[in-house]
Amino acid sequence: MKEFALINGKIVTHEKVFDGTVFVKDGKIDCIKEGHDDAGDIEKVDVSGKHIFPGLIDVHVHFRTPGGTDKEDWTHGSKAALAGGVTTVLDMPNNDPPVVNQESLEAKRALVKDEALVNYGFYAGATGDNVGEIAEMKGIAGVKIYMGSSTAALAGSSTGGLLVDDLQTLEKFMTETDHLLVLHAENEACIREYMRQFDGQEDPAVHSKIRDPHCAYEAVKDALHMAKKYSRRTHLAHVSTAAELDTIRKFKEDYITAEVTPHHLFLTDADYAQYGNLIRVNPPVRNPADQVALWEAIKDGTIDMIATDHAPHLLAEKNRPYSQAPSGVPGVQTMLPLMLNAVNDGRITLEKVVELTSYNPAIKFGVLGKGLLEAGYDADITIVDMELKERICHKFLWSKCNWSPFHNWVLQGFPVMTYVAGNLMYEWRDSFGEEIGQEVDYG
Ligand code: DOR
Ligand code: ZN
Repeated sequence: MKEFALINGKIVTHEKVFDGTVFVKDGKIDCIKEGHDDAGDIEKVDVSGKHIFPGLIDVHVHFRTPGGTDKEDWTHGSKAALAGGVTTVLDMPNNDPPVVNQESLEAKRALVKDEALVNYGFYAGATGDNVGEIAEMKGIAGVKIYMGSSTAALAGSSTGGLLVDDLQTLEKFMTETDHLLVLHAENEACIREYMRQFDGQEDPAVHSKIRDPHCAYEAVKDALHMAKKYSRRTHLAHVSTAAELDTIRKFKEDYITAEVTPHHLFLTDADYAQYGNLIRVNPPVRNPADQVALWEAIKDGTIDMIATDHAPHLLAEKNRPYSQAPSGVPGVQTMLPLMLNAVNDGRITLEKVVELTSYNPAIKFGVLGKGLLEAGYDADITIVDMELKERICHKFLWSKCNWSPFHNWVLQGFPVMTYVAGNLMYEWRDSFGEEIGQEVDYG
């Protein structure tokens, strides 16, 4: 089968950057040689001046199949991922109908199977009464638990009716299932209280007041108390405030992990004036001091990974008045360019970006065969050009929703080629392969 070598590049792992050659055979990494190598007489791809990353793993996307394919589908979502250097996505269960048992999982699996152009996995969603069914489920990345709902208005919800806002039910999921638990930790009662207080206000900036940092803190504190009590593997999605980080630091164990999103790293509540509802998202963007705390938590290891929470909605929906606009921003295509630009700005190292976006997601979520450029691992590889400086533009955004809060941002550092299982699936700037991705396994 297909055999080739990536020559003259700089290999980036979570530990080091070095000149090296990557030999690929039958969809796997055959071997890595340090230093430059002429690779003999096999096919060569010259990546001089470029960096070679393990393909990124985004543990948090909403690709909207089934029920929301006007906003996103797997053809568009996959292309956005590929153009963002992401080769594996783990997809959330808040679909219509939601994934709440083996049957709804199989139905979704059947729809995605022939459409995905990247590798993928699925979450199941917790409700007040499905702990028994969830405990029996096989082949899932984990269980998503919404401790707070994602309301568009009080009337409409984008969390698909998935809500576990009582601690007794949360405790059941901790003690009666073995799956990884991924928590959307915002306290529902707290949000509802602030909603009443700010009722009728239509300035999008009110969103960060309604979903006050206190609501996230309360939920994280409750969840971590319980996780510690049972030594329970628990992952906190989209941590966004200094108070949550302080709590995580107090409770941190190997079995407690946390993610941060690019939108929380690069946008704050000062940006509502420019972007309005486009940056309405749950949890909301926070103040600049919280953002500084997130970057510090990346440095000190309190944050384990970056995940996008890619949650596309139609521009027409986002253009409604605040109270009727849905929450969520797309992000799977822009995460890596934003982080590479931050590397060029001296805010973070290449190794740390790899740790946060591929190594740790693979290790901490048990995604087998990925996250490392080593012999025997899958040949999911992202080629990066750290010199390339470009303006983010709708024209080259592949998500079906076709907008980004980062539209018009000029960034330096972009993925220019993306391989999935040794197949070249993306080449700058609009060339895509057609091979179908595989569902991942967990160890
Ligand atoms: O802003 C959000 N949007 N937060 C969520 O938890 C759900 C998501 C969505 O699916 O739109
Ligand atoms: Zn989400």
